[in-house]
Amino acid sequence: MMGLQKNVKKAAELIKRHDYARVISHYDADGITAAGIISTALLRSGIQFHTTIVSKLDRAFIQGLDEELIIFCDMGTAQAELIQQYLSEREVIILDHHVPLAPLPDVHTASTVLINPLCANTTGKSKMDGELGEICAAGLSYLLARRMSGTEKDNLDLAGLAIAGTLGDKLPLTNGINKMIVDEALQEGIISVKKGLRLGDGKIRDAILFSTDPYIPLAGKLEWVDALLGKVGIAGDKKVRDLSVEEEKRLADALLSLLRKYNAEIHESALVGTTYRLNAEVIKNGLTFMRTVDACGRLGSPSIGIGLCLREEDLVEDATSLYLKFQSKLVSELNRLEREANSIKERQNLSYFFVQERGITGVLAGIIADYLYTGTIMVVVNTQERAEEGKTAETKISARCNKRLLAKSKGIDLAKAMEQASRAVGGMGGGHPVAAGASIPSGSEELFLAALDRILGEQRGRSQAPS
Ligand code: C5P
Ligand code: ZN
Repeated sequence: MMGLQKNVKKAAELIKRHDYARVISHYDADGITAAGIISTALLRSGIQFHTTIVSKLDRAFIQGLDEELIIFCDMGTAQAELIQQYLSEREVIILDHHVPLAPLPDVHTASTVLINPLCANTTGKSKMDGELGEICAAGLSYLLARRMSGTEKDNLDLAGLAIAGTLGDKLPLTNGINKMIVDEALQEGIISVKKGLRLGDGKIRDAILFSTDPYIPLAGKLEWVDALLGKVGIAGDKKVRDLSVEEEKRLADALLSLLRKYNAEIHESALVGTTYRLNAEVIKNGLTFMRTVDACGRLGSPSIGIGLCLREEDLVEDATSLYLKFQSKLVSELNRLEREANSIKERQNLSYFFVQERGITGVLAGIIADYLYTGTIMVVVNTQERAEEGKTAETKISARCNKRLLAKSKGIDLAKAMEQASRAVGGMGGGHPVAAGASIPSGSEELFLAALDRILGEQRGRSQAPS
């Protein structure tokens, strides 16, 4: 932990020398909560800022940055070389947890600080170790915000945002630095935890109707939902948070027996487990907060997501309608998949699917891999995104593999596979071993899928080769 904290301290000192900062972050829940934490900490330190949320960091964007202090969150490791090339005259802080795919240039200069627990020169170790746990960008941003504070407890109230970011990236909150964040937040009453249904908040009817994580067979089917609620004697308009302990238990039992009947793949722990209440935030339920912020980012309104992190109560209504829109898109694709199972195509080492809705690619891939096609690497291809002005059309790809399958599939690393396959067709990609993405030129989908299939086969083969 020493190396990491040393760099966090160095970053905090570097920030103090400035009165203006540019913050750049990623458009998912982790990226937006990370940007929310840094923006709030800057505001409280009297430092002006301009925060921008992007879906990817490319050469042209980096080249165009002209601020004296630039803070990258949830990205930047893969672009370390470009950052060094174009921003060597600036002061740069990178708060990232993406796997370095190529040997990193020596970014540690007087003016650049890389805080990435997966980079040896950050922690002094080559892999994330048990002591650190798996920290996301929001967690790292929180550590920095705490260092930027004047007194012992300043910025501790931002812990809820760090926890929401960690839920967004599906990382454990029970060990390492994440546990430390949870413990200090609990002690100060910033969050509360209890065991219960992991359905998020809102009306119970909507929570089940739009339940995609876990994806329960009732999602999208109003009559089924009402029939189940009738059977357990719970009014659909009742808020999840208002259920009595007894009602919650009754509902959990009914849902679990339904899951057992329809889909043995869903673990009980996906439906019932620790729930986090974010006492300081404008949406208190941790899962609902995370998913709402995520939907804002993915549907092109990241500023609403940032506003939620800055505790703008007025934005809750707009943000909630974006969340419901996002969930409807997901449910509609998932229901389509149930009706048209042949839309999932198979190759030797992966399965793939062309999505019709915009903005949901990554999340959909994760749900399919976790709850529907659990024995395969799932690749979702999205040819629907509009081309940005002045740019050629791109296809977005997301690949996911559930953690149980990864544990069985020695050698598989989706980040590396997606990076190599996209590079082979003139695109870019990367991410994490279980969750990776890529953008490729329109029209190169087949070539890309063939390359990805071959690379995954090679990864498997290498791990099986006798040494
Ligand atoms: O886009 P998607 O949600 O599938 O991204 C999964 C992960 O892959 C994210 O952590 C994202 O930062 C990363 N990614 C990447 N390069 C891309 C697309 C996604 O590193 N071109
Ligand atoms: Zn992240």
